[in-house]
Amino acid sequence: MKTKLETFLDNYDEKRWFTAIEKLLPAIHDVDKNAVQIWFRFFPLELFRYLQSAEDKEKAIQKFVMQGNYELKNQIDSSHEFLYGHRFWTATKAEIQRRAESFDNDNKQNNEIADLSGLIEQIAQTVAGKSKVDKSLTTGIAAVALMTLVQVGFEDFKNAKGEIEKPKGLLTKSPDQIVKERLKDDSQGILGFLKSIDKKFTVTYDETTSNAKFQIIYDEELATGSARNQSKNWKEMDERCWEGVIPVECRSAACGTCWVGILDGEEKLSEVSRLERKQMKVFGYNQPAEAKPFLRLACQAKAYGNTTVVIPPWNGVFGKKIYGVEDVELEPATTSAKKLRETVTDATKISK
Ligand code: FES
Repeated sequence: MKTKLETFLDNYDEKRWFTAIEKLLPAIHDVDKNAVQIWFRFFPLELFRYLQSAEDKEKAIQKFVMQGNYELKNQIDSSHEFLYGHRFWTATKAEIQRRAESFDNDNKQNNEIADLSGLIEQIAQTVAGKSKVDKSLTTGIAAVALMTLVQVGFEDFKNAKGEIEKPKGLLTKSPDQIVKERLKDDSQGILGFLKSIDKKFTVTYDETTSNAKFQIIYDEELATGSARNQSKNWKEMDERCWEGVIPVECRSAACGTCWVGILDGEEKLSEVSRLERKQMKVFGYNQPAEAKPFLRLACQAKAYGNTTVVIPPWNGVFGKKIYGVEDVELEPATTSAKKLRETVTDATKISK
């Protein structure tokens, strides 16, 4: 049986969640401003609700060519590691658990919670007070934790250990320092101003570890730079990563495999082309309307400076069914791209 808090949250669809997050954005520290919006795109409520009510969930997942770790219930304590606010997860989870168990009483005491953003703020305020930090650092994780409750249910939420590792990498620094570090571009040397096409920059793909970076050349797509970094066996870590740390398939905006969130430096990427804009809708990824938004296809976005990205744990093609996207001119090419790769692999085997 659902708790009263879950029943209250059931009144909110994805659009209303986005409205609540937008309302809270000015009060969220820059360190997590993009991160929280990205997280909500990585775990879309409408997709979750569709799959939950699907007669044949497995069939729907196949139809949406979903690959990777798309279920939030498998990553309750970890899906938000890229948020600075992740360090307040244990306290936030405990506060939500407490509220879920006494939602009616809390409402009476607080003279009713006006809306979703009000509830998020209240949770963030309590956690900030207990953790002795500013509310701007706990608001993002409070929103994420509430949505996690919606998608995993109270029992699983409560039973998750709630344990987190100590911050590592860049995330050991203060929020202001992290923002400052992200904004820096690599020096191009004394005569750097004379360089044009041979400028080199850095893409950070995981701020929680020290060396999670790859080099990118001026005007190069993120996926191309990622493919050159062979420092690890990426495929062993994620079978979608057969080329580099960013999963790819078609390299032509046709499959949706390579979507990434841009934690910072989105202004140093190329503008979204008409093809990318249209395909993001087809895939179902909620890319904001800006010319340089925080959600991109790595095979399309070209870099002109240092950027920090976060790689989602899954990909799929569900825009038509979930959001009613029409005007699909290009077929999702995941299957054909896979076939092509298998054919190439087979051909290589034969010739050996
Ligand atoms: S690799 Fe297929 S859309 Fe980018």
